[in-house]
Amino acid sequence: MTINVAIDGPSGAGKSTIARAVAKQLGYVYVDTGALYRTVGWAAISRGLAADDEAAVSALLPAIQVDLTYKNGEQVVLLDGQDVSREIRLPESSMAASAVSALPPVRAFLLDTQRSLAAKHNVLMDGRDIGTVVLPNAQVKIFLTASPEIRARRRYDELVAKGVECDYETVLAELKQRDYNDSHRPIAPLKPAPDSHMLDTSDMTLQEAIDAVCRLVSRAVD
Ligand code: DC
Repeated sequence: MTINVAIDGPSGAGKSTIARAVAKQLGYVYVDTGALYRTVGWAAISRGLAADDEAAVSALLPAIQVDLTYKNGEQVVLLDGQDVSREIRLPESSMAASAVSALPPVRAFLLDTQRSLAAKHNVLMDGRDIGTVVLPNAQVKIFLTASPEIRARRRYDELVAKGVECDYETVLAELKQRDYNDSHRPIAPLKPAPDSHMLDTSDMTLQEAIDAVCRLVSRAVD
């Protein structure tokens, strides 16, 4: 049996940075499920579709192929065989991801990909509904949070470091909007699983957060 660790929480809580580091330390595969939703969002908007148009996005799904591969230990998402790692980090892809992620056909489309990875490998999977829907039997569930201002600052710094032009106030407003969308949608809303460990990283350094997650995982699987 594989070991599955579910890490959920709002965007910018540090999920991907922390999960990637912990996965490396423990020798698990890191799965960033947000990248899958971003890829569907990008597929929609790059074809001129409105990301919240359920009929149009549903019709698109059978025509696209979304795959995860690993290059030098880093996850790479492929849309129809093309590496779209850069495109899916654009602010417009963030909003499109949030919109498509509210559509039931999109969630169903990505469910198999996520579950089959978890069945094959020891994974640290991060997302919004991993502990509640995708991997309800995960051995460890962690819900990571931080204040909206701190999360927006982290996201802003990340985008600037990647050379993406943006301003902090817009990043904060979009993050609050996405928090609202993600936690109020009727299907698989962002919420902690009842058996998850809550971890607020607002006042933690990155290393402290990594150590805290490693401790939770080690305690549960030893
Ligand atoms: O984690 P992220 O910011 O890359 O996620 C992008 C969007 O995808 C986010 O608005 C919520 C959605 N998402 C989701 O609904 N379920 C997941 N498991 C992961 C992400």
